Amino acid sequence: MEAVVTYLARLSRGGVSRKPEELEAETLRFGRATNAEVYLADPRVRLEHAVLHHRPGGIFVEAEEGADIRVNGISVPSRAVDIGDVIAVGPYDITIVEAPEGKDVAIDVELVRPLSDDYEALTARSVTSLAGRGVSKRVWSWGLALAIIALFLIAPIVFFTLHEEPKPRSEIAFRLDQSWDSGPISTAHRFISMQCNVCHEAAFVQVKDEACFTCHEKITHHFDPQAPELAEVGLYQDAAGSACQSCHKEHNGDAAISIMQDSFCADCHADIEADAPKTQLLNASNFEDEHPEFRPLVMLDPVAQRSERISLNEPDKLVERSGLRFPHDVHLKKDGIRGPKGREELVCASCHVSEPSGASFFPIEMEAQCERCHQLKFEPRRPDRVLPHGQVDNAQLLIREFYSDFALRGGAGDSGGKEELIIRRRPGSEPVKQEIVKADPKQWAEQQARKVADQAFGRTMCGTCHEVMTGEGAGPLNWSVVPASVSNRWLPGGRYDHKAHFEIVECENCHAADKSHLATDVLLPKIEICQDCHSGENAADKVPSNCVSCHDYHLDGEPMMKPVASAAWTGPEVPAGQLDAEYATGDNGS
Ligand code: HEC
Ligand code: HEC
Ligand code: HEC
Ligand code: HEC
Ligand code: HEC
Ligand code: HEC
Ligand code: HEC
Ligand code: HEC
Ligand code: HEC
Ligand code: HEC
Repeated sequence: MEAVVTYLARLSRGGVSRKPEELEAETLRFGRATNAEVYLADPRVRLEHAVLHHRPGGIFVEAEEGADIRVNGISVPSRAVDIGDVIAVGPYDITIVEAPEGKDVAIDVELVRPLSDDYEALTARSVTSLAGRGVSKRVWSWGLALAIIALFLIAPIVFFTLHEEPKPRSEIAFRLDQSWDSGPISTAHRFISMQCNVCHEAAFVQVKDEACFTCHEKITHHFDPQAPELAEVGLYQDAAGSACQSCHKEHNGDAAISIMQDSFCADCHADIEADAPKTQLLNASNFEDEHPEFRPLVMLDPVAQRSERISLNEPDKLVERSGLRFPHDVHLKKDGIRGPKGREELVCASCHVSEPSGASFFPIEMEAQCERCHQLKFEPRRPDRVLPHGQVDNAQLLIREFYSDFALRGGAGDSGGKEELIIRRRPGSEPVKQEIVKADPKQWAEQQARKVADQAFGRTMCGTCHEVMTGEGAGPLNWSVVPASVSNRWLPGGRYDHKAHFEIVECENCHAADKSHLATDVLLPKIEICQDCHSGENAADKVPSNCVSCHDYHLDGEPMMKPVASAAWTGPEVPAGQLDAEYATGDNGS
């Protein structure tokens, strides 16, 4: 249909303004929807309120479902309308007027019932735009921008510059420059999380290594960057020269502060045999299948203290000479071993006592672990006299003095020229008897002392457990003992924590001690035993282990990352038991 829609508006000074619009459409829809032919903006009008049809029988109006219209004041769902009829759609009156030439329908539309004061009061109360606040957007944006600068830039800078830091051993609850915090401090450093200046020594300057050295003064390099075989490799020099924070990321809360990925280590270790041919290291890039067999540090010569790394793949070369003799199998027999009070069953823990951390064991001590069965009695007539253990020369002097004294007091003549010296060989075994001919007391004493020393050092005592040496001048009675060098750290380059395994693996699975007869055996597990349970960092069916689970990065024995010059730390107390002793004891000027 062809229609003319005229919008009427009453002017404040009287009179009416008319705004006619011509349009062509199937129907005329009244409503608040934007596609309505007659758009009625008032909130009391529905989106789709009513429709006007031009049909052969005339003009009809229909209310949309649920909407209310009135024709000439009477509420109707639909009705034929004619010229002069007034249709009320919400607050609007729509009047059917005479259609001009060539048009089918003409209507006037007028808002006759504008919103009450209540509504205006309501809209005035619910301001939803900044402009509605009575200040322009521009003023607002300037105001807020300045406030942000003041709060988050100027205040923190003023705080940062004026604030005395570090505050000795006091907790600060709030600080103005906290708003700069780019994330929670790591767990290890939480105790200084309120002392930004400890790390950030100056504003807008990167954290310097010096800040870390105030506490971590003993950090070593991973390798000696000056070593001739490494000095030429750029990759190593770059790593050695990099700042702490390139590998240690702060402000990540509980997330690891150190770089952990295997790929970091593999960058250098996957092909180190080619990159640094002069080093002794073998390639390693994944614990699952690209990791060399362990090469324990084996003592080869206890006199010259020479040890060497020998792979567990070379059993023929694996001969440890600790200077001690010790048959594990004899002591671990299933039916026990003779002790001072009869047979007793020894277990690993009878001799290997866990350190408090549980990671490894206290060194074996003769007095604590062996002496109750292997006593150092040398003269059956005086069972109260024992040789001092660990004192090679003193033991010989004691023997000599003992028999000189014995002869002096006429002991040499006691048995009428014949002397029976009884030497106990082993606990519980039959005593061995020997005859000695009496000469003059001085000669007797010397002869007796040498004899006893030969027995004790050579066979029955020291010599049972030690490699011993004899010869003119080796000691007061010509005996010396090869230093005992029982290793406590076989794999110094790696970490093995016994405690983590106490409940899941038997000692014998890793150490075939019950089958070992010689102290020269190296009783360490091959890597395949670890690989039964441990695999690379992405393992799903085994314990996922990355390189740093078992290795340190800052290696003992390498040079310091800077010369040790103790920087005085006057800040909050470093948690006890951590870092170096001088911090823990508070002996650092604070
Ligand atoms: C344990 C040392 C440490 C402490 C304490 C510390 N930070 Fe940081 N912060 C760092 C390191 C390291 C970085 C990363 C590298 C850098 O600064 O350039 C960093 C980065 C930042 C950054 C990002 C800017 C940048 O240079 O990358 C902001 C901002 C920041 N810290 C604010 C703070 C605030 C605020 C505090 C105190 C609430 C604080 N930090 C305490 C070590 C620390
Ligand atoms: C105020 C003293 C202090 C300062 C400064 C400091 N640290 Fe620490 N840091 C500690 C203490 C304490 C520990 C905890 C040591 C521990 O748990 O044995 C620690 C632990 C660490 C750890 C080991 C974290 C872990 O979870 O194993 C790393 C890595 C570290 N700091 C790096 C840094 C770096 C890098 C800087 C310089 C941005 C720095 N530290 C500055 C005191 C400090
Ligand atoms: C920038 C290169 C580089 C990176 C990265 C690197 N290493 Fe090394 N690593 C070396 C060099 C070089 C040596 C020393 C070689 C030498 O002295 O003969 C070495 C030595 C070692 C040793 C000592 C071996 C021994 O017993 O003598 C171990 C273990 C080791 N690295 C493990 C790691 C682990 C684990 C990582 C990752 C956390 C790592 N490395 C990251 C280059 C690197
Ligand atoms: C009577 C004391 C005693 C008992 C019991 C004993 N050990 Fe030992 N163990 C020693 C002595 C002494 C050494 C050092 C001498 C040596 O190197 O053999 C040693 C050394 C070791 C070593 C070092 C590596 C090596 O090749 O020398 C391992 C591993 C070990 N013992 C495991 C065990 C295990 C596992 C058991 C239990 C099944 C056990 N021991 C029971 C006394 C004992
Ligand atoms: C419970 C008592 C007992 C303890 C504890 C003990 N031993 Fe023995 N040990 C014996 C007995 C008994 C023999 C003799 C076994 C045999 O020959 O059948 C023996 C034999 C030995 C032998 C071998 C002698 C040989 O001729 O083969 C050595 C070496 C030895 N012990 C060293 C040690 C050391 C070292 C310790 C301490 C770490 C130790 N023993 C702890 C009872 C003990
Ligand atoms: C039952 C075995 C046994 C007998 C017997 C024995 N020792 Fe030892 N000795 C050990 C063991 C085990 C160690 C290593 C642990 C320790 O230092 O206690 C050792 C260590 C030593 C050391 C080194 C101490 C040190 O601190 O480095 C000397 C020296 C020594 N013994 C001398 C002797 C002399 C001398 C005798 C004979 C009078 C003797 N031992 C008898 C088992 C024995
Ligand atoms: C389950 C523990 C474990 C894991 C995981 C592990 N290692 Fe090892 N690694 C060891 C032990 C133990 C040794 C022996 C240390 C020694 O001989 O002193 C060793 C030895 C080494 C050595 C010395 C090799 C040689 O020349 O004999 C290097 C290099 C090394 N590991 C690098 C790595 C790298 C890189 C990773 C990560 C891809 C890694 N390791 C993962 C335990 C582990
Ligand atoms: C999963 C294998 C494994 C098991 C299980 C195991 N160990 Fe070990 N043990 C090792 C490795 C690896 C080393 C070498 C560590 C080092 O010295 O660096 C070692 C070292 C030792 C040493 C010599 C170093 C030291 O600390 O004195 C003794 C002793 C020892 N183990 C005794 C035991 C006893 C006792 C048990 C049982 C409670 C046991 N081990 C269980 C793997 C194992
Ligand atoms: C029977 C399975 C088993 C064997 C065999 C085994 N481990 Fe483990 N290991 C474990 C388990 C389980 C843990 C605990 C893992 C954890 O706590 O996340 C562990 C923990 C460790 C840890 C401590 C890791 C950490 O993150 O603190 C080290 C290091 C380690 N093992 C090294 C070894 C070495 C080296 C061997 C071989 C000599 C070995 N393990 C053999 C099961 C095993
Ligand atoms: C090239 C990388 C790298 C650089 C540079 C580096 N570290 Fe580390 N650091 C590591 C890795 C990887 C570990 C984790 C392995 C471990 O526990 O030893 C670590 C561990 C640590 C630890 C905890 C273990 C320990 O040995 O006490 C401290 C503390 C630490 N670093 C401090 C520092 C400081 C301070 C600096 C700067 C002088 C620094 N690091 C520079 C890689 C690096």
